Amino acid sequence: MTNQFDVIIDRRAVPALKTHKMVLGEDGADLFAAGVADMDFLAPPPVLSALQKRLEHGVFGYETMPDELIPALTNWLAKRHGWEVDVKHILRSPNILNTLAIAASIFTNTDDGIIVQPPVFFDFYNILKENNRNLLPNPLILKDGRYSMDFAGLEKIASDPKAKMIYLCNPHNPVGRVWTKDELTTLGDICARYDVLVVSDEIHGDITFTGHKYTPFSSLGAAYADNAIICLSPAKSFNIAACCSAFVIVSNDRRRKTFQQENSRLTVNKNNAFASAAMTAAYVEGE
Ligand SMILES: Cc1ncc(COP(=O)(O)O)c(C=O)c1O
Repeated sequence: MTNQFDVIIDRRAVPALKTHKMVLGEDGADLFAAGVADMDFLAPPPVLSALQKRLEHGVFGYETMPDELIPALTNWLAKRHGWEVDVKHILRSPNILNTLAIAASIFTNTDDGIIVQPPVFFDFYNILKENNRNLLPNPLILKDGRYSMDFAGLEKIASDPKAKMIYLCNPHNPVGRVWTKDELTTLGDICARYDVLVVSDEIHGDITFTGHKYTPFSSLGAAYADNAIICLSPAKSFNIAACCSAFVIVSNDRRRKTFQQENSRLTVNKNNAFASAAMTAAYVEGE
């Protein structure tokens, strides 16, 4: 099998979200669907083979995580992004949005403020609303066709004792900015100064234009990592959003323990056989 990027596949043949009336509207049957960040080409051939192999096994009882999965992730992060992650810092989570919601619920209190930098992925707002956290917007600055962060604004908002967390989108969806090391360092310094926990959604980290390098927030150094929760997933990189789970990198021991306890309390630690097969194949053979 080889990658096929030019075959037109009817997403309406399955209950795809992007072609559903929830997204396209009641009269949207003929619209071109671009309202959800997933792609219309096949998953990588190794992912398809792994799924076929797993299906052929034919038994789908409870499973543990495959031993290869975490090394597959850490090798990927080291090789592609130069980020060496301690395996002890890695937790699992069903998906990124769930991770953001859990982080808000365990590391902030009702009516605390969470900073976001609009325009940003709309679900950030939903999570804040549904968790009764206050939205603290620090809009990005648009100048000469390029977006940047408003650090003066961030400093002002972060200095409010009610500001406890920031949802960073790194790289930023939408606007497509791949935040530089300098930008992330400045943000990290401001957040550390005012005790604002950085929750960094890095789901789009693998997808950058040539010449732009994704910097994992926690790769800035131990002090930055200590004040961060990093949300990772292969969903976008390999177009497997409906067939994968997510990872959470929590370097701070105390916070990791709290996160793990919450995962246990919510029993969100089950393994999906197809997600395991797809993710492992994607990271090991899908590059
Ligand atoms: C920035 C960002 N975060 C999170 C998600 C959703 O991630 P998940 O499906 O793992 O919850 C998306 C999907 O479009 C996204 O663009």
